[in-house]
Amino acid sequence: MVGITNRAFRTLLAELGPPDYAFTEMASAEAFVANAQFEEFYTDPRPSAQATSIQFYARSASIIGKACAKISSRSEETRPRGIDINFGCSAPHIRRAGGGSAWSSNPEGAAELVSLARQEWNGILSAKIRIGSVDDYQALLMFTSRLVESGLDFISFHPRMDDQKFRRKPLYDVFGRLANDCSIPLVANGDIKDQAGILELLNSKGAYAAMIGREAVRRPWIFGYIRSEMNGSLKKEPIDRYAIALRYVDLVVEMLPRPWHMESCRRFFSYYCETFSFAHHIQYRLVNSDSLDSMRDELRDYFNQVPADRFINPHFGARL
Ligand SMILES: Cc1cc2nc3c(=O)[nH]c(=O)nc-3n(C[C@H](O)[C@H](O)[C@H](O)COP(=O)(O)O)c2cc1C
Repeated sequence: MVGITNRAFRTLLAELGPPDYAFTEMASAEAFVANAQFEEFYTDPRPSAQATSIQFYARSASIIGKACAKISSRSEETRPRGIDINFGCSAPHIRRAGGGSAWSSNPEGAAELVSLARQEWNGILSAKIRIGSVDDYQALLMFTSRLVESGLDFISFHPRMDDQKFRRKPLYDVFGRLANDCSIPLVANGDIKDQAGILELLNSKGAYAAMIGREAVRRPWIFGYIRSEMNGSLKKEPIDRYAIALRYVDLVVEMLPRPWHMESCRRFFSYYCETFSFAHHIQYRLVNSDSLDSMRDELRDYFNQVPADRFINPHFGARL
């Protein structure tokens, strides 16, 4: 997730109970190949390079081979397990530039892009897709089949259309149909928040795995929590949301370039604070803070004023 799933955030997850697998935020293949400023930070797979894919978006097929070759030549510490190609981002500026979900209307170009990536990358190769601009299952199946033939190992599928906002539900019937027709594993994504949701997708919709986005920012302990729920070792220890907030700020300072500090915290806290009792109040205060110290002060004041929000049941905040 852009501006959020950077190394600092993924380290926070690792400390609280990591996901089985993670993805970096999407990086521009063009900018990465051109050695633009900060690209090494966008594409930093640590702390768990062997369980992380770097995600690229590209405006042309040819650039992706160069980006993959550059990643292949990295030393072990910063070479990821996988590379993921974004065919799913529907943000207008990305689509206008010909990246993300704009590729869904050009299956041959997208297939060429995957082939070129495959030629230069021996690790896991995956793609992220959406339904596309129209609800046309045959077009979706054809697009997906061309990607599969070109060498993908798995696909993550967020079954919303390009213009479908988060308030409308993902179309999991379309997901189930594609999982049935697709010859490689399909990872489900969209509005997944708890064990029940994951099991439903695995058992009834043919999902190979479940990908959690926003809920992992609201509850960064979610992966450890669900894992212990699944293996029966759940401890009902309260979560200290204040300590986690401060830890995140420290990780940002330690791991991200200085010009990213404020924005990384603002983006993280805009989701992290969504389930607080006075969410708008604290979000407003944090977004308008002018330094990390003043963010720390705002958090301290908030938890002093609303102590019941600090130590919470780890399941708290799940929208069931
Ligand atoms: C702030 C934000 C940034 C995102 N950035 C990316 C991205 O870089 N790459 C990507 O594939 N999807 C991105 N997405 C989409 C998410 O990966 C995911 O498909 C979507 O949020 C639905 O999953 P969720 O309900 O678990 O959040 C982003 C979503 C949000 C809200």
